[in-house]
Amino acid sequence: MTGAAGFIGANYVHHLLEWESSDVEVIAVDSLGFSGNYANLDPVADRIVFEKADIADFESMEEIYRRFLPDFVVNFAAESHNDRAILEPSAFMRSNALGAQVMAECSRLVPVRSHVHVSTIEVYGELPSGDEWFTERSPLNAKTPYSAAKAAGDQIVRAYMQTYPELNIRMTHCANNYGPYQLPEKLIPLAVTNILRGQKVPVYGDGLQSRDWLHVADHCAAVHRVLHAELGPIPPQAATEPGLLPIFDVSARCEVTNLDIARRVVAALGLDPSEWIEHIPDRPNHDRRYLIEPGKIESRLGWQPVHDFDAGITETVGWYVEHRAWWERILEEKGELGFDWSTAGRGPTGAG
Ligand SMILES: NC(=O)c1ccc[n+]([C@@H]2O[C@H](COP(=O)([O-])OP(=O)(O)OC[C@H]3O[C@@H](n4cnc5c(N)ncnc54)[C@H](O)[C@@H]3O)[C@@H](O)[C@H]2O)c1
Repeated sequence: MTGAAGFIGANYVHHLLEWESSDVEVIAVDSLGFSGNYANLDPVADRIVFEKADIADFESMEEIYRRFLPDFVVNFAAESHNDRAILEPSAFMRSNALGAQVMAECSRLVPVRSHVHVSTIEVYGELPSGDEWFTERSPLNAKTPYSAAKAAGDQIVRAYMQTYPELNIRMTHCANNYGPYQLPEKLIPLAVTNILRGQKVPVYGDGLQSRDWLHVADHCAAVHRVLHAELGPIPPQAATEPGLLPIFDVSARCEVTNLDIARRVVAALGLDPSEWIEHIPDRPNHDRRYLIEPGKIESRLGWQPVHDFDAGITETVGWYVEHRAWWERILEEKGELGFDWSTAGRGPTGAG
């Protein structure tokens, strides 16, 4: 599996070692770029093989495939932060688009039993306020550099699905994840770590951007189920009906605004939201709303989310409180994770 040292990848490695028997060999690949954190794998380091490699580098990945001959492949590796993508889009195109192709190509040349490409709700773009949700049949309409790079990866993976059906390549689109091991530049860990250092929680614009939230453990379980599902051949009608492709949207139908998330985090720490939240200028081109409908994975594969949102948020806040040394080390190594949009439209990064 790739992206193993990131937020969701590390959670998946931890769960995989619980779910699978002890003779399973887990090959964890990560380039240890900006969001990679090897410490996320510390608790399981003696039970995995770690390979530092870039999924967009075909020679390195092909060599890893040929050396280990994996049965199953899950590609979590991606540049994932929307804010950072605005300032450094090229790295996102490389990992999220070219990387997706290199991984699919390696699974074509060194056949695997199944391959899951992990994608995101964000490839569908922004959901109009009157619409209920997106489904696997919705057109891709990405409009930010992060989501456009992921959508490019999606199109490549769809092309591999249809051109090489014997590959058994599948894809998931997941809602926003929360849980342990998330880099403290994302909303929930940012809010907790700011407050624990006596700083307010910054909320973009009016904070009414609405997101679809799912516990990371539920996402990992969904990916695992898609990886092992017996799906049968792709029907010819899938050429014009993308709902028939082996693509699964993953969500708990839990729509919450960013402002509400910030308020819940402050309240979980026993503080008054009106004193601990500050509105800051919105980031450019900020999607207002996402929501997807997970009916297909529920009915076809029997997956259901099991984590209650209120309990999950409280537990997650508790995890960051208890793991202060983990995030303090990240902030020490990577510096403060703020963004300066004034340079976004021209040249060199202004990322802090
Ligand atoms: N976080 C979410 O809410 C969410 C929701 C839906 C889908 N996803 C998708 O899940 C996947 C994992 O997301 P995450 O939140 O864990 O991100 P993350 O940024 O925490 O982790 C990504 C990991 O991939 C690694 N990586 C990046 N480019 C690489 C490359 N070229 N080669 C090898 N490793 C590389 C990074 O070093 C990092 O360890 C991504 O594909 C993302 O698009 C995330």
